[in-house]
Amino acid sequence: MSTPHDSAFLKACRREPVPHTPVWFMRQAGRALPEYRALREGTAMLESCFRPDMVTEITLQPVRRFGVDAAIFFSDIVVPLKAIGLDLDIVAGVGPVVAKPFRTAADLDRLVALEATPEITQAVRQLVGELGATPLIGFAGAPFTLASYLIEGGPSKDQRRTKALMYGDPALWSRLMSRLADITLAFLRLQVDAGASAVQLFDSWVGVLPAADYREFVQPHSARILAGVADVPRIHFGVGTGELLHDMGQAGADVVGVDFRVPLDEAVRRIGPGKAVQGNLDPTLVFAPTPVIRAMTERVLQQAKAAEGHVFNLGHGVLPETDPDVLTRIVDHVHEATAR
Ligand code: CP3
Repeated sequence: MSTPHDSAFLKACRREPVPHTPVWFMRQAGRALPEYRALREGTAMLESCFRPDMVTEITLQPVRRFGVDAAIFFSDIVVPLKAIGLDLDIVAGVGPVVAKPFRTAADLDRLVALEATPEITQAVRQLVGELGATPLIGFAGAPFTLASYLIEGGPSKDQRRTKALMYGDPALWSRLMSRLADITLAFLRLQVDAGASAVQLFDSWVGVLPAADYREFVQPHSARILAGVADVPRIHFGVGTGELLHDMGQAGADVVGVDFRVPLDEAVRRIGPGKAVQGNLDPTLVFAPTPVIRAMTERVLQQAKAAEGHVFNLGHGVLPETDPDVLTRIVDHVHEATAR
């Protein structure tokens, strides 16, 4: 019987020979799918994340429809913060919004440890059973990106308050990052202990930092998290992180996620040996004519030949307006073009 362990996805993560290049899409579950919109009708985003049956069904939808090589757990990076009791919500078209943003040392008291969360454990167990040989990717938001939502109170273009706190009060920053690392690691452990085959640590907004400051203020915390889940392959991804790819790999990733700005062969040079890469078709290209999508997919596959292992993905999440059939065609194309 085949198991997730023998899947093309986990083989690529481990830099072993693969039967074909595995594919999955960041944000593959979500608003691009009519079946997702139908199921979510009348249920708030964060509420749905705490309903194991809904989480299971939404996670399975893209696997059935696209034939991707891995499932990603349907949840959100702010779910562990909600689980510890913070007052926050996810506003459609905006993103996470925090009622009382983090401002002073007194706010540290609200960042308590994440205890067992039965809804998460049950959803992962159920999913692993239903997925059979298809691996489940667990995930969490990395401390910098979580800190940015907590400090800014919501999405921010320039992360100005976050940087003001990081550079202005390094001692408080370190305590905040340390608490968030504990929470993030606990959230990932819940998923891995319940059967997730791999994890992705999303540091979506860390690309706003120069490499030296990343190494000083962020990397030790992300490294502690990644070391805590070394029993499964670890993917680490951020947007606009071309300057940070090497250091993000050195934080302890097995697979470095690359956004659409850096060609994969150049990314491999920056990351160095001993790592697989994931990426990186520009998610807006799905709106281009079919021959262009095919040519750009082919270009990603060519550039990926420089890598010791390659997981095909978009260079950031699926946009809600994406035609799902285009994604199915990309999966088929990658599978056919790389079959060996
Ligand atoms: O990838 C998947 O399919 C798994 C599920 C997943 C979601 N969020 C579901 C979701 C994952 C992996 C995430 C991670 C996430 N959430 C990140 C890191 C990835 C990235 O995009 O860089 C971030 C920054 C968030 C925070 C967040 N949550 C944003 C910015 C938004 C979008 C708000 C909007 O409407 O534009 C969300 C909401 C969210 N998370 C949705 C989904 C399916 C949309 C909710 C809805 O259906 O209305």
